[in-house]
Order: sequence, then C-alpha cells, then structure tokens
Amino acid sequence: MSRIIIQPSGKSVECKDSDTVLMALERAGYALPNNCRAGACGECKVRVLEGQYDQGMVLDMALSAEERRQGYGLMCMAKPISDEMVIEWGTADARPKLFPPREGALFVLIERREVARRTLEIRLRPVGQPIRYWPGQYVTLGDERADIPRRAYSIANAPRPDGEITLQVARADDGVTSAWIHDTLRVGDSVKINGAYGTFIGDPSAETPVLCLAAGTGLAPILDLAEAALRRGYRKKVDLIFSARTAEDVYGQGMMAWWRTKHRNFDYKITLTREQREGYLEGRIDAILPSLYPDLSAHSIFIAGSPEFVDACVAAVKSLGAKDALIHKEGFFAIQNTRSEGRQS
Ligand code: FES
Repeated sequence: MSRIIIQPSGKSVECKDSDTVLMALERAGYALPNNCRAGACGECKVRVLEGQYDQGMVLDMALSAEERRQGYGLMCMAKPISDEMVIEWGTADARPKLFPPREGALFVLIERREVARRTLEIRLRPVGQPIRYWPGQYVTLGDERADIPRRAYSIANAPRPDGEITLQVARADDGVTSAWIHDTLRVGDSVKINGAYGTFIGDPSAETPVLCLAAGTGLAPILDLAEAALRRGYRKKVDLIFSARTAEDVYGQGMMAWWRTKHRNFDYKITLTREQREGYLEGRIDAILPSLYPDLSAHSIFIAGSPEFVDACVAAVKSLGAKDALIHKEGFFAIQNTRSEGRQS
C-alpha cells in the first residue's frame, strides 16, 4: 500500500499494490482526465514531484523522453513503488467529484438490437446495486476468463432508478471485444462491468447554450448528456449535430426526434459525409459549422468521436469564438496492438 499526495491541495489517497495511480484517485472520487487507460493517449499525464513508480509500457507519442526527463508520467499505467508519491494536479481546493468506480459489477444482457450498419445496441440491467455515474462517463466490458480484453464503451442513457445502462458498440475491424459482443453475447448472458470512468461530464451549474457534436458511436455519451440535461429541465438551447458516413450509419434519430417534439429548446441535425440524401445536411461538421453557428463565444461545446474528428471540430469551434474552458471533448483512441480495438463508445 502506498500513499499518493496531490499538490497543491495536500489531499492524499491510498493506493493498493496492484493499482495504478489513476485507479487509486478514481476510487477516492477524483476526476483525473483519462481516455485510453493504456498509455496511448497522454490524457492522464501529470508531473510527479516526489517518489518512485513503475511507469509500465507506454507509447512514446503519449509520453516523450523529454517529458519523462521533466518528471511527467502517465498515471493510467503508473504504479507507486515508494511508500509515498507526490503528484502535481488540480487546484488548491481539489475535491472529490466522481463516484468511486466499481469492479466486476454483475449485469444481465436483457436486449440487443442492430441500430445501424455495424452498430449494436445492448441493454444491461444490474443484478445488485446499480453503478453510479455521471452522464458522459463510460464503463469497461470484457471477459477475462475467455481472454476477451476489456474495452471502454460510453453509457448512452442518463442514469435510471433501475440502474439499466445502454451501450452502443461499433464492430471494429480486427476488434476481439466488439466481435465477441456482436457475435457471441446473447440475451440472458451475464457480464461483469467495471466503472464508471471518465471526465467527459457536463457542469450541472452551467447556464449557457449547448452545442453537441458527435460522429459515429461518439453519439452515445452525447445522447446521455443531452438526455440528462433535458430531463432536469435545462432551459437554454441544446443543439446536437450528428455526423455519419451514410444514411445506413445513422441511429438514435427516433429518440432525437422525440426530444425535439417534447422540448422546445432541443434541436438536432444530421450530416452525411459520404452520401447526399434528402433531409440530411451534407459534409463534415467542421466544414458546415460556420454557416450554421457564426458565433460560438457563449456556447458550451461537447465533442465526441475519433481523435481526428475531435481535433477538426475543436479547431472549427475555436475559430468561431468558442472559449477553451467551455469546450469538452472525448476522443476515442485506438490502442495500437493486435488484439484491441480501443475506445468504441
Ligand atoms: S495515456 Fe493514460 S489515459 Fe491514455
């Protein structure tokens, strides 16, 4: 057991021998940003001020040799070796914000349906206590006994009293886990869920118009966030733009149409990038945005999709005046090894 001390707040958390620093922080409810949980994206990078730790295997593009020299480390893979480890993260009043994640929570698959080409939606109901989560967070799903690696999938629905969660799983080329979910998991099967994780969460105190941008299964956390905001009576405008390659890749439209009918402050648009179809916009979101939203200086922006999609959208919204502090993003990283498909939402 080691102790992780967070500076400048001076708060500390215990870290079990088998745990990474990220896991220890999350258990205590701290929202350290993270994405791939595998040393590939660099989201969890912090400076280590004191103490020794085993960094584990990480990619150079996520942590350069120069950054290592400067004392930076990736906390999703770092395991403390010394009794104490001091990291620099957060503000002087760093406070727990997230619900501590659970491991091995038992769920039963109660429904599965193909919602778009190569995209399966599964509904999972907890057998015991529901997992507590913030809209926008994700869980991991896999089966260690069958050698199916755990992969991260965003929860696509706002928290419900019965604890049910919906995941939307795109079939990834060569993806062991998504192939297992698509081809092997059946209604009635039990699965073990870990989570919830992630910091792609809305600020409940925000009072700005909201623009959500999603591509592919990046729609899942966006649906979750939008549903939660509308359900709690958010009064400002909430707009959603969903980018899909073709009409066959579009899903979630029924729910978005229902929200638009029920909530006067909600609207959505769908744009296709590889096909022209009546009723849809045409072109990439970053290209069509200036004509739709010439001024985004007052908006909170939520962006989810591939890292390339996120980067292009961030550049586009910034050029339209969006403020850094109001831009929230979730890029689904592909982990570079042969048997994983990375983040699928
Ligand atoms: S490198 Fe740590 S979360 Fe991606």
